Amino acid sequence: MPHQQPKIILGIETSCDETSAAVLQMANNGVQILSNIVASSQDLQAKYGGVVPEQAAREQLASIIPVIKEALSEAFPLHPKPSALVDAIAVTQGPGLIGSLLVGVESAKVLAKVWDKALVPVNHLLGHFYANWITDSQSSIVNSLWKKPEEENYKLSTINHPPSFPILGLLVSGGHTDLILMTDHGKYQYLGGTRDDAAGEAFDKGARLLGLPYPGGPQIAKLAETGNPNTFKLPRPMIDSDNLDFSFSGLKTSISNMVYGISEKIDNEASSSLRDKQLTINEKQDLAASIQEAIVDVLVAKTIRAGQTYGVRHIMLAGGVAANRKLAERLTEVARMKIPHVEIHIPLVNLCTDNAAYIAAAAFFNYHPTDPLKLQANPNLSLSR
Ligand code: KG4
Ligand code: ZN
Repeated sequence: MPHQQPKIILGIETSCDETSAAVLQMANNGVQILSNIVASSQDLQAKYGGVVPEQAAREQLASIIPVIKEALSEAFPLHPKPSALVDAIAVTQGPGLIGSLLVGVESAKVLAKVWDKALVPVNHLLGHFYANWITDSQSSIVNSLWKKPEEENYKLSTINHPPSFPILGLLVSGGHTDLILMTDHGKYQYLGGTRDDAAGEAFDKGARLLGLPYPGGPQIAKLAETGNPNTFKLPRPMIDSDNLDFSFSGLKTSISNMVYGISEKIDNEASSSLRDKQLTINEKQDLAASIQEAIVDVLVAKTIRAGQTYGVRHIMLAGGVAANRKLAERLTEVARMKIPHVEIHIPLVNLCTDNAAYIAAAAFFNYHPTDPLKLQANPNLSLSR
């Protein structure tokens, strides 16, 4: 049965430690968010310094139904049966933690069957990029049930319309660092990616060495604001390599050596105990600034080189690390010098990290419904080389 293009999609995202459901509708210029609910078990993960898969899956199970219900009732507050207004359900198929993915995929399958809706599987990595198609001003009102009230939502780029093909895309998240050349919806060429740790992972591991809680990216960014990036010199791995690959695992060793070096000095001078506790606030600020600078330098250099090589007019960022202000500023600045006229697209910060809005957005432009009884979660999906 041929499926009609949907007008309203319910998105579901449960690939890691966020449980999210969103309702989006097609608008004139991009897509519009009617609701976007994100329940995060990050506070819990912070206690353990990272994501514990079994625990993340258990939290997903506890949150999935209330989150879907909330997304529907927030999108259509006056309607007695909001599910009737939804044309299709989009769900993250992978990659991610299998226990977490299963919660979203199985819930979406049941709902698609019971409500008789089309079911659209979405690759989480490709999905991240579609935050760049959510440009409607309504989207600044991103509702977030369990997010802390002080968390702001703002835009790091001045561009307020979707990118045009061909687009160079840089995905920088906790598990991925990938450069792709997108020539149409769903059509892309893989240009390069990390050979070991992802950019977000480098932020998280660096933060851990400084004794900062998980997730480390925002913590490093905050401390770096008042730090000097030149006090400690960290390497820029693979910055000059003649390919578009990255490597961030060596950075962790360098940071570790640096923290160890400082602590050793203090140990000798003051003979106190825990190393990370011995760093002064100034040293932590300077180290944070150096870590951020090293990661940003490499990401910007490779992205600009790819932009020059492929002659694109549009570059888009996606993933949690795209919420980093320094990355946005530096990329914009270097692009202005080296590839003038290029437009840098960066999603609203709340849309950079994991949420269901971009999953639904991706489904509008890659509308390939599947049989709900046959869909399987796939933890190993990739953007493939
Ligand atoms: O995309 P995301 O929410 O989840 C994955 O799919 O991995 O990305 C999470 C990652 C974490 O590593 C986190 O530390 C990083 O994004 N992150 C940041 C910032 N906000 C989140 N890294 C640097 N600066 C930020 N402001
Ligand atoms: Zn993600």
